[in-house]
Amino acid sequence: MPEIFINGKPYQADPDQTVLQVCLANGIYVPYFCWHPHLSVVGNCRICMIEEEGRGVDIGCNMPVKAGMRVLTESEEVHAHRKAILQFITLNHPVDCGICDKAGECTLQDYHYEYNGAPSMSHEPKVTSTKFYDLSDRIVLDNERCILCSRCVRFTREVSKSNGLGIEERADVSLVRPSTDGSFKDDAYSDNVVDICPVGALLSRSFFYKSRVWYLTSTPSVCPGCERGCSIDIWHRKPEWFVQSLDPSENSAIARVTPRENPAVNGPWICNKGRDLARIFERKRALEPMLKGKPATPADALATARELLAAARHPVAVVSSWGSNEELDAFRRAFDAGLTVVAKHDHAPEPGEVVEDDVLIRADKNPNSARVRELFGNAAASIPAEADLVLVWGEGQAFSKIPPGAKVILLGSYLAPENGHADVFLPISIQTERDGHYTNFQGTVSGFSACFPKAPGVADAESLFAALAGSAP
Ligand code: SF4
Ligand code: SF4
Ligand code: FES
Repeated sequence: MPEIFINGKPYQADPDQTVLQVCLANGIYVPYFCWHPHLSVVGNCRICMIEEEGRGVDIGCNMPVKAGMRVLTESEEVHAHRKAILQFITLNHPVDCGICDKAGECTLQDYHYEYNGAPSMSHEPKVTSTKFYDLSDRIVLDNERCILCSRCVRFTREVSKSNGLGIEERADVSLVRPSTDGSFKDDAYSDNVVDICPVGALLSRSFFYKSRVWYLTSTPSVCPGCERGCSIDIWHRKPEWFVQSLDPSENSAIARVTPRENPAVNGPWICNKGRDLARIFERKRALEPMLKGKPATPADALATARELLAAARHPVAVVSSWGSNEELDAFRRAFDAGLTVVAKHDHAPEPGEVVEDDVLIRADKNPNSARVRELFGNAAASIPAEADLVLVWGEGQAFSKIPPGAKVILLGSYLAPENGHADVFLPISIQTERDGHYTNFQGTVSGFSACFPKAPGVADAESLFAALAGSAP
């Protein structure tokens, strides 16, 4: 293992590391724009300058380690180069941070204050460019803010493989544009370029001018969009920034979803479906228990459910593959002995959705099918004809497949026509309102935490199972 000296101190390095990687691995700050740990090295932004003693400055992201080499990350020469690079990069930059969604997370802002801080030296008018270029119906490009680092281009060529983006023309009229040899619009991972763009050039339509990032906080979660179970952060308003006079539903809304790096599951990426979880979680909620479609008190609905279970001769329970490990355990404790269990996929692929690929997306659109298989390996695939009571947990059960005459207890979260057809309907909480874990198809267990308080009137499925336990014959 070669030993190198950074700012006079010895560090052990892997022979295939660059000096930038050794610095970052040891907590030594070096700025970078174009380098990304999961993309190829292009060395075009020149901000990562490091001085090798006796040899002068060069870019650290493409500087291989050599045993005994001595480098400086904060010398006068290094600082002078970084300042010059920033002056060059901001020469035609609009500096419209006040209206930029990236403000607060922009490395150009951070590095400018760290290494430059001076007004522009240029007396020439800035070169203007396209301000709102629709790269797709999801992403807008501001070419004036683009620093041509090419991260977005490399992402579409090396990770998502859509070859969706390229750079056309040269010098100060260079433009990132959709390329002719690929399709950015069809890239199921396109939104990752918004995260990796080091400036505010690539912007998500769903987050466009929606919030300043410092109003938001994030909660660790797991995407339920398929059995990959990608680790994500769900962003929502900080309590100290709750709106008082506007629509208060803003205070419990998902502002955006970003990947949370997890090498065991999704690396640093997620697919676009994971970004759109608000479409799943913010559907109209079912908040009232019902008896045959008529509102009932929770106590009456629960008592009726217990009576129906006790009276049934062939009760069946349909288990949800969107239930957490904890809920599935509670379900098994409550019903495994007395009921026939049927395994159900709550969600199927939607029209137009990428069903499966060799990046992340899996064909099974449910987060916890693996745990259902583990716990209910012998579960039936469909409801037996002799069933006289069916307890349905979650979505995706066609009521036409329930034997006619069977009583139905339904535990659901969203408004749906089936709710009114059930003999008993009990409203339950959703993932963003509780803590739990999912087991993905590889057996990796990932946890999620509550982002919002439970909607009024709903109970956790886990507590309902406990309350119903022992009612079955
Ligand atoms: S749009 Fe962003 S990621 Fe793409 S080249 Fe420009 S600065 Fe880099
Ligand atoms: S790959 Fe699956 S789990 Fe990951 S973000 Fe996409 S839908 Fe969600
Ligand atoms: S980070 Fe090294 S040249 Fe861009």
